Amino acid sequence: MISIDEMVAFCRRKGFVFPSSELYGGIAGIYDYGPLGVELKNNIKKEWWKNHVQERDEITGIDGAIISHQKIWEASGHLSGFSDVILECKKCKNRVRGDHFIEDKLKISADGMKSNEINNLVKEKKLKCPNCSGEFNEASNFNLMFPVNVGVGTGLTAYLRGETAQLIFADFKEVMNSARLKLPFGIAQVGKAFRNEIAPRNFLFRLREFEQMEIEYFVKPGDNKCPFIDEVLNHKINIYSSEMQSKNQKAEKMSMKEALSKKIIKNEWHAFWLAHEHMFLISIGANPDNFRIRQHKKEELAHYSSDCWDLEYNFPFGFKEIQGIADRQAYDLTQHINHSKQDLSIFDEESKTKLVPHVVAEPSMGVDRAFLLIMFDAYTYDKERENVVLKLHPKLAPIKVAVLPLVNKLNEDAKKIHDELKKEFNCYFDTSGSIGRRYARQDEMGTPICVTVDFDSLKDKDCTLRDRDSTKQIRVPLKDLNMTIWKLLSGKINFLDAGKLL
Ligand code: GAP
Repeated sequence: MISIDEMVAFCRRKGFVFPSSELYGGIAGIYDYGPLGVELKNNIKKEWWKNHVQERDEITGIDGAIISHQKIWEASGHLSGFSDVILECKKCKNRVRGDHFIEDKLKISADGMKSNEINNLVKEKKLKCPNCSGEFNEASNFNLMFPVNVGVGTGLTAYLRGETAQLIFADFKEVMNSARLKLPFGIAQVGKAFRNEIAPRNFLFRLREFEQMEIEYFVKPGDNKCPFIDEVLNHKINIYSSEMQSKNQKAEKMSMKEALSKKIIKNEWHAFWLAHEHMFLISIGANPDNFRIRQHKKEELAHYSSDCWDLEYNFPFGFKEIQGIADRQAYDLTQHINHSKQDLSIFDEESKTKLVPHVVAEPSMGVDRAFLLIMFDAYTYDKERENVVLKLHPKLAPIKVAVLPLVNKLNEDAKKIHDELKKEFNCYFDTSGSIGRRYARQDEMGTPICVTVDFDSLKDKDCTLRDRDSTKQIRVPLKDLNMTIWKLLSGKINFLDAGKLL
């Protein structure tokens, strides 16, 4: 796997991602997605929505506002408790995030460590500023929410949402009234979230402005039987339980069936969502072996959470969270009931009583982190070709087909083919440079298929299709081109079965 710096350089060179506002010096932790990046990112979100909302009967979606009422964040606890511990140098005023600093310096896990524990460690281990070796001030809490002023002179302070999830809880009643849902059900949302991170780092991994794809999955209190469990029982994944972590053991690959029967995963819903999310990422081209699921240790759990697992990916900077699957119980809805004084309970036909549903799982994935792992798994340097081949899944590839006339004289005829194809697929028309150079350019962009138009194409009414991953070439009749490309991109046919091998 290439380093994170090499990935940053590649993404910039090919127009996937670059620093935002750089014309004026940029802002740490804020990036823009370029022409190829926006397509890839949109494709990830589109596939997620299709898989998690459109293909499921019991999940519906919303698109909540980004600027949201202060009371939402008071109720959720974000205004009082959504903070990281900050250490500031007395001399040079350098600020570092306490838990990350402790982890880097002492090579121990500092997840969930409070400011007093960090203060004690700083004193005990005589830790100094990494910038100037000066002493630190007492560690303090730094709230991550971004306030915004609404209107002129209204005195109304609102907040950029710190997670998409709270809008799902705040809209719960509206969705219940309109969508005719019966427990168990989920409400999904994809969109921007904002956190004033003390130390954004590792490119798209820790940002101040990012996107989330989240589901709040509601069940009756105490329900831990998942009706979909059979779909995932045989699915295997590396499991790293809290017990394995405290005994310094390695993660162990096992099926969900085994994990449930050994009571490593206790709740069927967690097993279902963990496996489902791993399977989803594999279905869009991720390498299954680069993941593990890690259980939070007791000290990492939020006070309302009885269990939490992260799906982690092995980045060049270590295993890191892609997605958290937390059991939030009735915490959020109860908080909003108490703060809004509105009834957010639902009537349960079976028990003929009102109840506040529990969130048994909150599959919450960062779009930008998914983007990054997809790029790492797709990036391949081909020594023979002497260029990068971005082996993106066709579903995600920003450009699906490139049309390349062999010589300039054929530009007009090739353009006609391109104009037809672009009605169906995101297409690229390239006339500049040798054909080898143009193939290499498409390899680096991740384009699965190139269509080459030559003089025989005019005579025989056919063209050459070149496969990105194998470089094999086949001849296909022009009249079947749309259908053949569609079959290839959707995996309905193998490349070598789609035409005459050259
Ligand atoms: N509603 C639950 C929630 O927001 P979280 O673990 O704070 O939980 C969920 O965030 C996911 O959002 C993470 O697993 C990660 O993929 C993404 N995420 C969180 N903070 C991020 C950041 N600063 N930059 C990029 N992605 C982030």
